[in-house]
Amino acid sequence: MSAGSVLVAGGTGYIGSFTTLALLEAGYKVVVADNLYNSSAEALNRIEAICGKKAEFVQLDVTNEADFDKVFEAHPDIDSVIHFAALKAVGESGEKPLDYYMVNVYGTINLLRSMVRHNVTNIVFSSSATVYGDATRFPNMIPIPEECPLGPTNPYGNTKFAVETAITDVINAQRNNAIKAGNEAEAKKWNGALLRYFNPAGAHPSGIMGEDPQGVPYNLLPLLAQVATGKREKLMVFGDDYASHDGTAIRDYIHILDLADGHLKALNYLRANNPGVRAWNLGTGKGSTVYEMIRAFSAAVGRDLPYEVAPRRAGDVLNLTANANRATKELGWTPTRTLEQACEDLWLWTKNNPQGYRQQPPAELLAK
Ligand code: NAD
Ligand code: WQD
Repeated sequence: MSAGSVLVAGGTGYIGSFTTLALLEAGYKVVVADNLYNSSAEALNRIEAICGKKAEFVQLDVTNEADFDKVFEAHPDIDSVIHFAALKAVGESGEKPLDYYMVNVYGTINLLRSMVRHNVTNIVFSSSATVYGDATRFPNMIPIPEECPLGPTNPYGNTKFAVETAITDVINAQRNNAIKAGNEAEAKKWNGALLRYFNPAGAHPSGIMGEDPQGVPYNLLPLLAQVATGKREKLMVFGDDYASHDGTAIRDYIHILDLADGHLKALNYLRANNPGVRAWNLGTGKGSTVYEMIRAFSAAVGRDLPYEVAPRRAGDVLNLTANANRATKELGWTPTRTLEQACEDLWLWTKNNPQGYRQQPPAELLAK
């Protein structure tokens, strides 16, 4: 099947920018739409420096439905959307749930309405392992398969669950309506991938592209990176009394390049196999504890990074590790990068770009 044009909503953000790179490298034409709330358009220059191809950029707010209409009218060749645009801070979602419902849920409803109006029929959605909530309540469900009952435990997770449900309902309705009208070929065009990511990690091995959040980071690896650069004195380890081999909580850290490749494979699968709506976990299947992460990142940096044990963080669970067999079997997706590589790539990015995209990287890295 020939590559078409793809709208990447939230495409200047961390995962969106790496997916845009993967799409361009695979021959897709890409239109990136973002309001730059948590990202910088400089990401697009770095993508071009790496692959020699350019994505078109449109500044768009997902809460404005007319913005999507304009993009689809200007680009009638777009047949698919990869939808990353969202607010993603779990803690903040408890303080400002309406902001999260507005951007994550209402924004996606706008997108879906506009897709239906313009016959844009494939959507790949950024869901999250957070939709499973505390999967350890089902002891036979670790590592977590897609069949694990969903049970998000915070407003952010609730918005992801709501959007998964809305996409499922809309795609199914589009299919049923087309079948009722006797048009089976039209029905098969409507497809959705619900990609449940575990913990994205790392940066591009060139050292010129990585995560550049606009505010204070709250994820483990970006915080460890700040300890390594001296921006932060030490890492606070949230709890050493979990039922793991070293007492700290277990997560499944997936290299950002493997995660981006999962989106490419999911999109290709939708376009070639017309599965309707399907969920896939994107994780490595291998869990690492907080202490193991501190050791792995310290090894990349070349010195032991300081930490202190603190109480458990509210809402954290013992173990979120993926069973990603479905993605391997159906999408032909297997993560190939190690945790050590993710840590090395993150450190190369961090030490060469202390101001993120607000500064140019060293010329010798750009020249490679
Ligand atoms: P990110 O913040 O880097 O990317 C999100 C992008 O959406 C940003 O570029 C931001 O500017 C944009 N955006 C926010 N509000 C917008 C609006 N109103 N209109 C248009 N654009 C808007 O985050 P990320 O880590 O790349 O996450 C991408 C997606 O993956 C999100 O949907 C997130 O919920 C999901 N996800 C992230 C993780 C993670 O740990 N990073 C894990 C699972 C799922
Ligand atoms: C990882 C581990 C912490 C910071 C979150 C969201 C999830 C998904 C990914 C979007 C945990 C521990 C952390 C620190 C620590 N995002 N930790 N000290 O919580 O697994 O997942 O991001 O969908 O929905 O909940 O990621 O990086 O915050 O934490 O000890 O300063 O590191 O307790 O065990 P988490 P994280």
